[in-house]
Amino acid sequence: MSETAQPPEAGRTRLLGGDPVGLFGLGCMGMSEFYGAHDDARSTEVLHAAIDAGVTLLDTADMYGGGHNERLVGAVLRTRNAFVATKFGIRRDGERRWNDSSPGYLRTACDASLRRLGVDTIDLYYAHRLDGTTPVEDTVGALAELVQAGKVRHIGLSEVDAATLRRAHAVHPIAAVQSELSLWTRDVVTDGVLAAARELGTALVAYSPLGRGFLTGALRDRASLAEDDFRFTNPRFTETNLAANLPLLSAVDQVVERHGASHAQIALAWVLAQGEDVIPIPGTRRLDHLRENLAAAAITLTDAEVAALDAAFAPDKVHGQRYPSATLPVTGPARTEEARA
Ligand SMILES: NC(=O)c1ccc[n+]([C@@H]2O[C@H](COP(=O)([O-])OP(=O)(O)OC[C@H]3O[C@@H](n4cnc5c(N)ncnc54)[C@H](OP(=O)(O)O)[C@@H]3O)[C@@H](O)[C@H]2O)c1
Repeated sequence: MSETAQPPEAGRTRLLGGDPVGLFGLGCMGMSEFYGAHDDARSTEVLHAAIDAGVTLLDTADMYGGGHNERLVGAVLRTRNAFVATKFGIRRDGERRWNDSSPGYLRTACDASLRRLGVDTIDLYYAHRLDGTTPVEDTVGALAELVQAGKVRHIGLSEVDAATLRRAHAVHPIAAVQSELSLWTRDVVTDGVLAAARELGTALVAYSPLGRGFLTGALRDRASLAEDDFRFTNPRFTETNLAANLPLLSAVDQVVERHGASHAQIALAWVLAQGEDVIPIPGTRRLDHLRENLAAAAITLTDAEVAALDAAFAPDKVHGQRYPSATLPVTGPARTEEARA
């Protein structure tokens, strides 16, 4: 974030690598692919409106739209200041995708991201996925060199287990771990990742906090999805699992009504309630959704409400894995065994 960036309002911030960022970040992925059609002019409006409203953390990655997303965010950064987070490590060649967290690759990827974003320094640079071959010490060692070179300010890791986070942190402080965290995906709360992050002073950036749209209650039918929507391939959104998951939402109705809120807002308030070190990054291409989501900052759930929501979305009540087996993130040896089970 440059020196001229407006600091977010006091009391509405969370810390990331010691820097205050707005309570919510903005997930920019859907502005380029995965969730149906996108429109650059509208997305640009959303980006500006988010910054106007106090959002500082913009979340992108080199693989979103094959560079399109970083260029879109970069165009906004020409006139606006923000805390930009991007990622490397998921490589693509047509339909083929593979993970690469090797030092040689990440150095090239960083230069390409800096060019597309049009910045001298990336505020937060994540390994999007580890490749399972390169020791995490080597990946983080190479990232630390980028910090020394002034190309990167903070280092992050996405989808790692607690042991890997600790090994990485021993090489260089890890400012953030980005993992899926929402009412219907709570692995990091139970598998030790959030506890380890907390102990190390690492922020937990919660991705897909709206359950890829499901938790808003607006997605009730696969017929509303575009043909190439990623959710067609996601096990939670098969015809059968979507129908089986929909009744979970009515369990939230009471809390929704009590707060005069929307389902999306209660889902986001639940993520905020996970701790001061958890930063949700809901994604949207729409101004009305942006405003609705940011207004969730005003909702404080009671402990009893959090417990009721926890029970309503207990993991054994949720139908379908969060990713197809073939692309289920391999976060370390412990989860590899789980994924095979
Ligand atoms: N590290 C990783 O591996 C990883 C993986 C996935 C995502 N991410 C990051 O996390 C960000 C957020 O996750 P996500 O986009 O996957 O999922 P999400 O934030 O849980 O949900 C996004 C979906 O919800 C819809 N939506 C948003 N607000 C809404 C509202 N108020 N009412 C109704 N629908 C609403 C969006 O559609 P509209 O656009 O129409 O609003 C979009 O389809 C991404 O943008 C990306 O930056 C990271």
